[in-house]
Amino acid sequence: MRRLGILTSGGDAPGMNAAIRAAARHALGLGLEVSAVRRGYAGLLAGDIVPLARAAVANIIQRGGTILGTSRCEAFRTPAGRAQAADRLREARIDGLIVIGGDGTLRGATLLAEEHDIPLAAVPGTIDNDIHGTDTTIGFDTAVNTALEAIDRIRDTAASLERVFLVEVMGRESGDIALAVGVAGGAEDVLVPDVPTDLLTLGRELRQSAERGKRSSIVVVAEGGEPGHAFRVADDLRELSQLEARVCVLGHIQRGGIPTARDRILGSLLGTAAVDILLDGGGMMAAERGGAVARTPLRDTWEHRSSMANPLLALVRDLA
Ligand code: F6P
Repeated sequence: MRRLGILTSGGDAPGMNAAIRAAARHALGLGLEVSAVRRGYAGLLAGDIVPLARAAVANIIQRGGTILGTSRCEAFRTPAGRAQAADRLREARIDGLIVIGGDGTLRGATLLAEEHDIPLAAVPGTIDNDIHGTDTTIGFDTAVNTALEAIDRIRDTAASLERVFLVEVMGRESGDIALAVGVAGGAEDVLVPDVPTDLLTLGRELRQSAERGKRSSIVVVAEGGEPGHAFRVADDLRELSQLEARVCVLGHIQRGGIPTARDRILGSLLGTAAVDILLDGGGMMAAERGGAVARTPLRDTWEHRSSMANPLLALVRDLA
């Protein structure tokens, strides 16, 4: 292993820059050369690969997004696309690749490694927290805190006007952000993709709470891969229970911003661990389990599903 490449792919996540910095500096410290692949898999296919010097990763640990750029790349989903990517890596004389991203990114990385025998190490970077084999993904903590700050603000206006709010959070098919902010924000309920909710009952309970004198109600709605889902929930509540609810979709706000200390530390630990994985031959994702750095075979990271346990949902309802 003489030269390694680093790329970020899919949705950006706060803390990715800490992982880039850690991987680059750890590798350079070991005497390796480091290249940056810009704009994710799309940039890899285009051969957008440049040397990454120590100074290039200075002053980035506190910045959201990814300094390397990222993309969602349809061509990389095809065998022909991945063959082209392997050619580009060989041309750039890259002996091993570190890929930072979410489940789609890890799936593509696994296939690239298997089909073309490329040493590959992955780092879980997504706000969704839906990667199997790691307790937490980079970006989740920041996204939760960003969404929570918004919910606290919404609570002020909801209480002043005695309103019900549906707050939609991201997470594609994962309800982890919704459950975390539901507990931390004192929500009345959380609607997650895996658990069917009886809206008639929810509407009745929200009405009864208001009659008992509750001044505000916040229901957190996971987007469930369907941005704007909360508007449909509001329509259903109106129809079923004549309940008027305001809707706030937090959207991409949750993906940006200054990474929390937790995400910077996680990014630093896992970026460093990814280099060590490559030196051991690759084929693994750097992970965090039980507070310690661990390794998960690449295929396991997306072949199995991962989600925060539903006890958090019971907790929200118990404490509402
Ligand atoms: O995977 C991260 C994520 O932010 C999801 O929570 C969300 O569903 C999706 O990306 C949005 O993707 P895009 O940025 O392409 O709209």
